[in-house]
Amino acid sequence: MRTMLTGASVFCGNGFVSADVVTDEGRIVAIGPDIKEKAEKVIHCDNFFVIPGLIDVHVHFREPGAEYKETIQTGALAAAAGGYSAVLPMPNLTPSPYDLDGLRPQLAAIEKLGSSIGAHSRVIPYGRITDGKKVADLEALAPYVCAFSDDGVGVQDGALMEEAMRRAKALGKLIVAHSEDTNYAPEDPRSEYMQIVRDLDLAQKTGASYHVCHVSSAESIRLIREAKKQGIDVTFETAPHYLVFSNENLPDDGRFKMNPPIRTAADREALLEAAADGTLDMIATDHAPHSAEEKSKGFKGSLNGILGLEAAFPVMYTSLVEGGVIPVDRLVQLMSTNPAKRFGLPGGELKEGGAADLAVVDLEDVFTIDPSGWKSKGRSTPFEGMKVSGRVIMTMTEGNIVYER
Ligand code: DOR
Repeated sequence: MRTMLTGASVFCGNGFVSADVVTDEGRIVAIGPDIKEKAEKVIHCDNFFVIPGLIDVHVHFREPGAEYKETIQTGALAAAAGGYSAVLPMPNLTPSPYDLDGLRPQLAAIEKLGSSIGAHSRVIPYGRITDGKKVADLEALAPYVCAFSDDGVGVQDGALMEEAMRRAKALGKLIVAHSEDTNYAPEDPRSEYMQIVRDLDLAQKTGASYHVCHVSSAESIRLIREAKKQGIDVTFETAPHYLVFSNENLPDDGRFKMNPPIRTAADREALLEAAADGTLDMIATDHAPHSAEEKSKGFKGSLNGILGLEAAFPVMYTSLVEGGVIPVDRLVQLMSTNPAKRFGLPGGELKEGGAADLAVVDLEDVFTIDPSGWKSKGRSTPFEGMKVSGRVIMTMTEGNIVYER
């Protein structure tokens, strides 16, 4: 259906301009002031802002295997409510996608989404890098997956990582590493950066495209910054919680329990600096729901993982943009444009001929984060109670409204 969004300020790459946006058959067909063309549906967006649909390259949707925590359906609904037009669920599932048999149940659940909830955000799964002992069937998985990751655990065996990088490169796919050396406690930043040291070498040696998940330590950033200067094909993400919190005086509450852990003020400062100076490539939530019971056992006893999808945009807009760390165009780059480019996904920018993947946000609306009404099955989030601005009003994927407040 030919649809026009009118009255909004529209993101045009380096700022906002007053413009109408017309979508048809999944594409943006016109952007400009006072478009005269007729549309079957006109959506008035006065005082709102239109940005490219957000893209989260790191979520956990628990289906198949732990549907009591989240399903692909509840995860997709949470994504849409958060302004995300595309999400990439990690493969720490049961069965796990080491091969096509392991991937099929997830593909079937994604396939079913349209008939159960109608239009929905894009959900594109990961395949695994290894099963712990050997490299997964990357060649069979490649046509169906966004990239390869063992997220949840690090690849401990360097020889396996090297073989995986060579094979992923031949397939034109990214290796997306949960970097964690189990010789160190997670609280020790070496647990994160020792594998980054190893994998940067392997990426240089193999020419693979290498992306590092949820970077949390200053030393990891220093290493990646240097590697980029040397021309190694590396990118990295961090998550909103590492940009907002540091580990002095964290409450004894499962809401702050995740892996990697929130680190020191100096680590957080290094992440903010990387956001501001262009080193950071993207922000991904690591949305990782667990049951209320599993998160009720204090900091020590609760499972690792917190919710991000329905909080990330307002939290990041408030703390980074209103907080004066980065301008809004850099936030759009981190949450949409860069993920689209690096993972080869539709969207990431608003342009004629491009995918009609967009979010309408109210940057003036000030509210308090309250997970009680969220679409996700989980409730545990460190952002609960934060006063924020930047409310998601509508999300569109491929020209379909997937969320409307
Ligand atoms: O906190 C985390 N939760 N970190 C991970 O790496 C995995 C995730 C999960 O699956 O719960």
